[in-house]
Amino acid sequence: MKFTHKLSKIFGPDGWHSLAAGLRRMAYPLGWRQFMEPIDREGLEKLRAKLYTPGERLLPAKYLNVEEWMKTSTKRIRDLRVLDLGCGTGYVLHIAKCLGHDVLGLDVAGEPVFDGTIALLKIPRINAAIYAFQPLPDLGAPFDLITAHMTCFNRRADGSHWGVEEWEYFMKDAESRLTPTGRMQFDLNVLPDGRHMTDELRAFFIAHGARIERRRVFLPPRSQK
Ligand SMILES: C[S@@+](CC[C@H](N)C(=O)[O-])C[C@H]1O[C@@H](n2cnc3c(N)ncnc32)[C@H](O)[C@@H]1O
Repeated sequence: MKFTHKLSKIFGPDGWHSLAAGLRRMAYPLGWRQFMEPIDREGLEKLRAKLYTPGERLLPAKYLNVEEWMKTSTKRIRDLRVLDLGCGTGYVLHIAKCLGHDVLGLDVAGEPVFDGTIALLKIPRINAAIYAFQPLPDLGAPFDLITAHMTCFNRRADGSHWGVEEWEYFMKDAESRLTPTGRMQFDLNVLPDGRHMTDELRAFFIAHGARIERRRVFLPPRSQK
């Protein structure tokens, strides 16, 4: 790489993001060897014997230098900005952080276990409550992924659960916090009748293009809606 190109990478418009991502990767090194372990070694050697050309730098044969490409690929799966709503202990965000993602939690402060684990794991958290028909607070730059697991914020004061109207408001607001390719996924707590959502709410999520796996709702990327 030419020196001027290197300088433009550091001081160019993307330089700061690139530097921040590099620092995050250094703080949470992710070893590539663990990703080699599940690979069928015999199968790989057969493939290499047939198609690998040592020293190849252009043609697809270069990808059979698997160790090198595992190192590159561990960097490539990183650097998403992830928001977890009602993050509780922060364990999900801890794992995302260890994988090199830029994470933020949102939860009400005051539960000693959650406050303790969040501090222990050094998870940045916005202390705030989610209320029906009220926007989320300022959460900074847009997110690639917004999650909520075992949600409790969708309970009304009388103990009943949010209906379509509350979800519609919440999802519209949350969606405005996504990057154009960002997406959301929710894991809903159980209702008193054993279901995780009413038929009406299920139909609402499906109308928004969601894939539903029992309690889990995966919405399509914002740009595909
Ligand atoms: C059952 S816990 C799940 C925690 C975590 N998401 C998990 O799956 O391990 C529910 C979480 O939602 C939070 N919560 C409850 N009501 C909330 C509200 N109105 N706004 C934001 N968070 C809320 C609680 O403090 C708690 O951390």
